Amino acid sequence: MNRRRRIYEGKAKVLYEGPEPGTLIQHFKDDATAFNNQKHAQIDGKGVINNRISEFVFERLSEIGVPTHFIRRLNMREQLIREVEIIPLEVVVRNVAAGSIAERLGLDEGMTLPRSIIEFYYKNDDLQDPLVSEEHITAFGWSNPAELDEIMQLALRVNDFLVGLFLGVGIRLVDFKIEFGRLWDNEQLRIILADEISPDSCRLWDIETDNKLDKDRFRRDLGDVLEAYQEVARRLGVLNESRPPQGMVPVLVASNNPSGGGE
Ligand code: TMP
Repeated sequence: MNRRRRIYEGKAKVLYEGPEPGTLIQHFKDDATAFNNQKHAQIDGKGVINNRISEFVFERLSEIGVPTHFIRRLNMREQLIREVEIIPLEVVVRNVAAGSIAERLGLDEGMTLPRSIIEFYYKNDDLQDPLVSEEHITAFGWSNPAELDEIMQLALRVNDFLVGLFLGVGIRLVDFKIEFGRLWDNEQLRIILADEISPDSCRLWDIETDNKLDKDRFRRDLGDVLEAYQEVARRLGVLNESRPPQGMVPVLVASNNPSGGGE
C-alpha cells in the first residue's frame, strides 16, 4: 500500500515522505515495545486506535491555540503532518506519582504530586533515554533557554487542557510524554507539538477504579491492552463512526459515560 519513501522508522510509527514539500505521512503500527525494545509484541488494531485518539487530541489542542504538526487524518493508520526538526527531548509532565518517578524517589504510586512536574529525557535509545536537566540540555545544545521556556509553557498548557478533557470522560491523567519540533515559518522559528498523544504515551487511570487504560497494561502484563485503548477511544467518542479494526466489536458509548471532550 505504501510506495512512498520511508524517512524514518520508530518502534510504533513510520514516517513517509508526504505529498508536498514540508509534509510527512505518519503511519501508526501495531507494535508495542517497552523497556527500550526489550519487550515487544503486536497488538492488532492498536495503531488504528492510536491514530484516532491522537488525531482527536491534537485537533482539540489546536483549537485552543497549541501549534501542532497535525494536518489531517488520511486513513485508518495514517495522518498527514508537517515536517519539523524534532528536538531530541522526551518532555514528561506528571500529576500523580507513577512509573519511574515513583521508583526513583520512593513515592507511592497514586500519590498526587504537590504540583505538576516537568521532566526532560534525552532521546537516545543507546543510552535508554536518560533523565537530563536544563543544564545538560543547554550545555550540549539540544535546545536553548528560550526554546525551553516555550516548551515548558506549552507542556503545562497541554497538561491543563488534557487533565480536563480526560476528567470529563472519567479518566485521571497521571502523566504523559510529548515531543516538540522546530518549524521555520516566514523566517521565524516556531516550536510545534509533534509525535503523538495516545495511551502509548500517557498514563490514564479510570477515576472510579484506578483501572489502568494505557500501555502499563502491556508493560506490566496486565492483559486486555487493546480493550483498554478501545475504552479510551470510546469514551472520547472517536470510535463511534469508524469501522472497527479486525476482531473488534463496535460498542455504543454507554449512556452514563459523558462523551465528547470536556473543555
Ligand atoms: P516513566 O514513568 O516510565 O518515566 O514514563 C512517564 C510517561 O512517559 C508515561 O506516561 C509513559 C511515557 N513514556 C513514553 O511515552 N515513552 C517512553 O519511552 C517512556 C519511558 C515513557
